[in-house]
Amino acid sequence: MEHDWRNSTVIYQIYPRSFSDSNGDGIGDIRGIIENLDYLQDLGVETLWISPMYPSPQRDFGYDISDFRGIDPTFGTMDDFGTLASEVHRRNMKLLLDMVLNHTSDSHPWFKESRSSKDNPKRDWYVWRGGAKRPNNWQSMVHGSGWHFDNRTESWYWASFLPFQPDLNWRNPEVHAYMTDTLRFWLDRGADGFRLDIFDAVLEDASLRNNPFAFKIIPDLSRGYGMFQKTVYNRHIPENFALAQEIRKIAEPRKKLLIGEVFGTSDILRAYCGTSKPDGLNLVFQFQCLTSPVTSSSYRKLIQEAEAWFPPPFTPTWVFGNHDRRRSIEQCRGRRDPEKLRTLFRLTVRGVPCIYYGEEIGMGQQNIPIHTSQDAVAQLLMKRYPSFAVSLIDRLMHGAVNRDSCRTPMQWNSSSNAGFCSSDAEPWLPVPDSPEETTVEAQQQDPDSLLNCHRALLQLRNRLSPLKHGTLTLLDTPDPVLGYIREKDGQTAAMLLNFSDAPSRVSLDQYSIPKKLVYSTAGKRNSPEDEITLAPWEGTVFFS
Ligand code: NOJ
Repeated sequence: MEHDWRNSTVIYQIYPRSFSDSNGDGIGDIRGIIENLDYLQDLGVETLWISPMYPSPQRDFGYDISDFRGIDPTFGTMDDFGTLASEVHRRNMKLLLDMVLNHTSDSHPWFKESRSSKDNPKRDWYVWRGGAKRPNNWQSMVHGSGWHFDNRTESWYWASFLPFQPDLNWRNPEVHAYMTDTLRFWLDRGADGFRLDIFDAVLEDASLRNNPFAFKIIPDLSRGYGMFQKTVYNRHIPENFALAQEIRKIAEPRKKLLIGEVFGTSDILRAYCGTSKPDGLNLVFQFQCLTSPVTSSSYRKLIQEAEAWFPPPFTPTWVFGNHDRRRSIEQCRGRRDPEKLRTLFRLTVRGVPCIYYGEEIGMGQQNIPIHTSQDAVAQLLMKRYPSFAVSLIDRLMHGAVNRDSCRTPMQWNSSSNAGFCSSDAEPWLPVPDSPEETTVEAQQQDPDSLLNCHRALLQLRNRLSPLKHGTLTLLDTPDPVLGYIREKDGQTAAMLLNFSDAPSRVSLDQYSIPKKLVYSTAGKRNSPEDEITLAPWEGTVFFS
């Protein structure tokens, strides 16, 4: 049977400003990505997701788009994009674009027109309401009300995220047609699919009903709460689920991938992919790993939840970090061995792993002082609160406020500017002062590096079909050992992971684990006989 690439691929996220600068302006670009495609191919990742590169004033670094069908000169040209797509495809890899359907920049010509007068033809392209008072109690995802008063026409516009990102009005048929045609536009030019930004917020309640009261002081997007309210009318409304199905129909004939950024409990996430059959988005990001304690019991629960809500033919995703959240290795307080164990976990469980650039070498969260942050979220909060409070909120929100800290330049080598840009250029964010071994160059030489752990496991995933396409069964190994088996066409891969600072002994016979050891995060070791003593934080793969 032909496998659908969309259920088993490995996604690597590139934040283009920070990946590789080819022209010495201190900002990464498309040519820089092209120059490093061999590295990515050799690493073994299969699908590249690139954060937005469309024309934009860059106030939210590309998530504020002013033209959906072009490339920002900061990153290159349409020709560069064409070259990128063909170079990616030449290596049998895939390319996902980041599509922001929910909003535009306030510098988009549409919004400029829309705000100019109440009878402008583009007026209805955004969500406007008149009146002296805010139209309702809805809050932005960042802070406070998402309604902003515009003096020109004495009306309010709605913005789900930052004030300079007004929401499009998807109930307007012209908006609907233009935006869905934009997806076709990029598919025709070589995109293999899209990562869909804040997809759960694209449509909002037509009559703008107030969200009901809920006793919740700290907002929690994942559980559907704002401050003192449940976000039932501006998130996850039925029309958003219908939109998922509609876009799937555009992507499906060409087998293109749709992966949604949606925040919610597993039942809601699953509903975006389809209820009885997979007829919505192919995948949604599952963010639980970003905050789960690194213990066998919590990782067992993650698997149980993924298998319960995303059984085949649905596919779970495994996300350890992205450009909005604290870097992955901080979950292990910077320790390499637990991070290797987590790498083995995410590359051997059933589903699509997502790797954020630099995770493969263990790049850490950087200490960028909040008052110097270029992130518009941090800047907005700094206008309202003292810096110690903003830093505290950042910590409580897992790094989602001062996002500069997880966006620093990729560390390629030990030259000045870490090989991200030429030594006489000024990188847009400081190159971290991290240990010399946290570079691609150093880790390539070291067989036991985190980078080589990724590479070996990605190769194994391609070689052993159960790891890529098999079913998953949990073993009832006692804590701190997590065990599971993947099976496909009579072949078995078994994983044993020791989530502990102490060695742990496991009987292989008791759990019917094949005796052939094919990988260990602890380096070379012989296949054991009847039992294995796992070293602290050792993860192993067995195969028959
Ligand atoms: C979610 C994106 O991941 C984030 O970086 C961006 O700022 C907001 N959406 C607004 O588009």
